[in-house]
Amino acid sequence: MEPIDEWSVDANEALTLSLHSPSSGEELSTFHPKFTYPIFGESETIFGYRNLNVRLAFAADNMSPCLDVSWDKKKKPVGEVVAEDVEAILQEYLPEEAFKSDLKSFQNTLANFYVSFTPPGSLLNTSTHLDTTYEIWHANLSDPHCQDLLSRIQILILLFIEGGTFITLDDDEWSQKRWDIFFLYAKSPSNEYSFIGYSTVYRYYYFSPSVENLARARLSQFLILPPYQRQGHGSRFYDALIAHYLEDPATLEITVEDPSESFADLRDLRDLNRLQTGGAFKGLTLTAVSKKDFPLEAVRKAAKMPERQFARCVEMALLQDLQ
Ligand code: ACO
Repeated sequence: MEPIDEWSVDANEALTLSLHSPSSGEELSTFHPKFTYPIFGESETIFGYRNLNVRLAFAADNMSPCLDVSWDKKKKPVGEVVAEDVEAILQEYLPEEAFKSDLKSFQNTLANFYVSFTPPGSLLNTSTHLDTTYEIWHANLSDPHCQDLLSRIQILILLFIEGGTFITLDDDEWSQKRWDIFFLYAKSPSNEYSFIGYSTVYRYYYFSPSVENLARARLSQFLILPPYQRQGHGSRFYDALIAHYLEDPATLEITVEDPSESFADLRDLRDLNRLQTGGAFKGLTLTAVSKKDFPLEAVRKAAKMPERQFARCVEMALLQDLQ
């Protein structure tokens, strides 16, 4: 790693994340964050070290974290100019229980004290892809097991989603109940879980004269860890979440909060695919739309899509039709 100046390093390069087998401690994958500005400031640099190596390791099942900070040289304080306390800065975004020791001890601890793990909530969906079993678990923020897991992984939102923020875990129960949390895990033949990604969905309730407790589900955060990106996991996870809310009679509309460019692309493709393969767009042609022969509003409502996103899908389908 090239230092930026004699005592500053690029925080995105200095910080390495890794996932470890919960039963052997073996390193399964390593990756770097996309953003560190919410933690180390706009310049995304860390001051005061030569050859700084910050390791944030997670047990792949319960995502229990270990923080191991090492360096070759630390700058001696000169007046108020002191090396940044990397451990204290990162600790603010990690649960108290975070293991602060060298990575080797963390790996040994995992290997020596393995306890089998089951994700929080209930099993929503199981699928097999390229001989691996994947499970989606659906939990609610009011579940303490779910809060524990979130307290360990929320730092990932800052590191991978631009403008991402923590959700409040210790709110009152009414507010907690508004949050649905979905976890995507791979499951090995020996029932060992490996975290792949997660999503948070906020449910706005409002009253309608005909149906009580109608809700709008707002997909708030959606993350697939870098080692698992571009393998179709995001698309399958999104499809399963949408299918869940389409089946839920109390959900009227499914919206997305501030989608990133890559997520907006994924959403467009999956929404269009669902409307076309599910038959909702059967008979959708430019002529039918211009003659008002196609029930756009009824199809949009059945698809539980907000107007703007539905209009995008209609436009994409009509453009395909012209080609
Ligand atoms: N081989 C190669 N490419 C593939 C494969 C494969 N086997 N399978 C899918 N792809 C391609 C898809 O065609 C798609 O290509 P495109 O970008 O050209 O359209 C691309 O890979 C992504 O599709 P998926 O693999 O289904 O999606 P992925 O699992 O990579 O998840 C996501 C996408 C969620 C955006 C992920 O990259 C991510 O978490 N990014 C960081 C965080 C983020 O931006 N989250 C969304 C924020 S917005 C919000 O939270 C509301």
